[in-house]
Amino acid sequence: MKSDFKAIDFVDGKLKLINQTKLPFEEEYILTDEYERIALAIERLEVRGAPAIGIAAAYAVALAFKNGNKGEDYFNQVFNRLKNTRPTAVNLFFALGKMKDAYFKVKNNEDVYGILFDVAKKIHSDDIQMCERIAENGLQIFEKKSVVLTHCNTGALATGGGGTALNVIKKAYERGLVKYVYADETRPLFQGSRLTAFELEKAGTPFSINIDSASGIAIKEKKVDLVIVGADRIAKNGDTANKIGTFNLAVLCKYFNIPFYVAAPETTIDRACKTGSEIEIEERSAKEIFQIGDAKITRSDYDFYSPAFDVTPAELITGIITEEKIYKPPFNF
Ligand code: MRU
Repeated sequence: MKSDFKAIDFVDGKLKLINQTKLPFEEEYILTDEYERIALAIERLEVRGAPAIGIAAAYAVALAFKNGNKGEDYFNQVFNRLKNTRPTAVNLFFALGKMKDAYFKVKNNEDVYGILFDVAKKIHSDDIQMCERIAENGLQIFEKKSVVLTHCNTGALATGGGGTALNVIKKAYERGLVKYVYADETRPLFQGSRLTAFELEKAGTPFSINIDSASGIAIKEKKVDLVIVGADRIAKNGDTANKIGTFNLAVLCKYFNIPFYVAAPETTIDRACKTGSEIEIEERSAKEIFQIGDAKITRSDYDFYSPAFDVTPAELITGIITEEKIYKPPFNF
């Protein structure tokens, strides 16, 4: 799927990121060649989505060496800063691992920036290809023209290319396989009502936004045929971490006996992680619950529980769509 905006681009020696915290009201861009600014953008979710943060971090490492090789200690400082931005999406660690391998192979007289930049560019271009292949593979899951429900944002904003789960949905709509889309708003940061809505509108796909707690009645009353979501990390046994609320959806799908699919690149599979219980779940600031923008919606002195992700057990997943194939349970990656 083509989009008329680029969530991540590289222009005149600088990384250009669409500031996702401003969408859908403003299309504002962050233009920087400082790795620290990119680390902040990842922490603030100005750039977010598992593949997108990996790509942004890879460019950040390259940019840190724009003025030459400042040595291993400096590399480790940059690497650790970026590694500690967000813990759950494995794509960040995959991309940083690739940058590290490349850095430690650089010889004294070589152009360190050029070499690191090429690796970052390759991670980015591979992701674009993967998105296309995931969408193609995903078309097979549609048995008829379907009503689909999705969660969070898994489109062009979340990746280097057209997206994962949302790219499947957009391509299926183009091919006449999707009738209508329900987008969970995705509390607390509204990736559904802000970002997925932004993309579906641009793609001309008919949709409604529902509050997360309406997904049960939406599935029942609006005759949702299937749910497709993305992933931040998939364990060896298929347990899948994704945006908070995904697990609830999988349970609902089981209750209503409809398929629950995950779409993600192979790089989201973490074979070192045996089950979902080994996946670190990011906890976000309580502020994201008691406040929306500048508006307080409850008292800040209450106690809050704010996991940003949950883990859906493999047994609730109908299939995992990657650029290679559609994996069916029992999963053993
Ligand atoms: O906190 P976010 O917005 O980075 O969370 C994003 C998600 O959970 C996505 O579903 C996931 O990263 C897949 S994006 C293709």
